[in-house]
Amino acid sequence: KQTAFIFDLDGVIVDTAKFHFLAWQKLANKIGINFSEKENEQLKGVSRVKSLEKILSWGNKTLSDEEFQRLMNEKNQDYLNYVKQMTEADILPGVNSFLDDLKAKNHPIALGSASKNAKTILKCVKLSDTFEAIIDGTVVSKAKPDPEVFLKAAQCLNTTPSNCIVFEDSIAGIQAANAGGMTSIGIGDKNTLHEADFCFSNFLQFDYPFFKNIKMKA
Ligand code: BG6
Ligand code: MG
Repeated sequence: KQTAFIFDLDGVIVDTAKFHFLAWQKLANKIGINFSEKENEQLKGVSRVKSLEKILSWGNKTLSDEEFQRLMNEKNQDYLNYVKQMTEADILPGVNSFLDDLKAKNHPIALGSASKNAKTILKCVKLSDTFEAIIDGTVVSKAKPDPEVFLKAAQCLNTTPSNCIVFEDSIAGIQAANAGGMTSIGIGDKNTLHEADFCFSNFLQFDYPFFKNIKMKA
């Protein structure tokens, strides 16, 4: 049976992580909370609601439900203003050719993202028809590090977790893949993503043949 591949979106396929950072930083600074790259690392892979909860806890702040919603919407608007300017040119290096190789060899491929903006982003970068299954923040109830998003993707692809390879740039996402019994590939810094089964700094650091001989987790 052909190995199935599941891709996170933000920070793996496209570099939207930098836009999330800018939008959260603007919001945090506005309400008087310090926000640097270090804090941002802990928000990667984390849902919109959980992200704002974390930022508020760092600043020892609480908000009314109404204000919380308002700030979350404001952040998303700022974020979408960046996203809307994206084109195919914003797909991260090596991703397109790797996806082409997988498709040529008939591997099932899915998207597994925490984002409620996933479909908007795929449209901007012209990848709307690439994935056989799209599991995103609109259909998942338990956020990464819970494996729900990836288990649902495996189910949609009609395969078992042990037959899946997951690409992730976040700590929470690697933990989710591992918890689901899938082989995890970190995209990013080896020290940050030390829980991953394998780690590469980007998609140019490996090629399709690497996965022909890969030792799967289960
Ligand atoms: C993840 C990002 O993919 O999606 C997080 O890594 C983000 O930073 C989360 O908070 C939710 O995204 P959105 O687009 O629904 O706010
Ligand atoms: Mg990500």
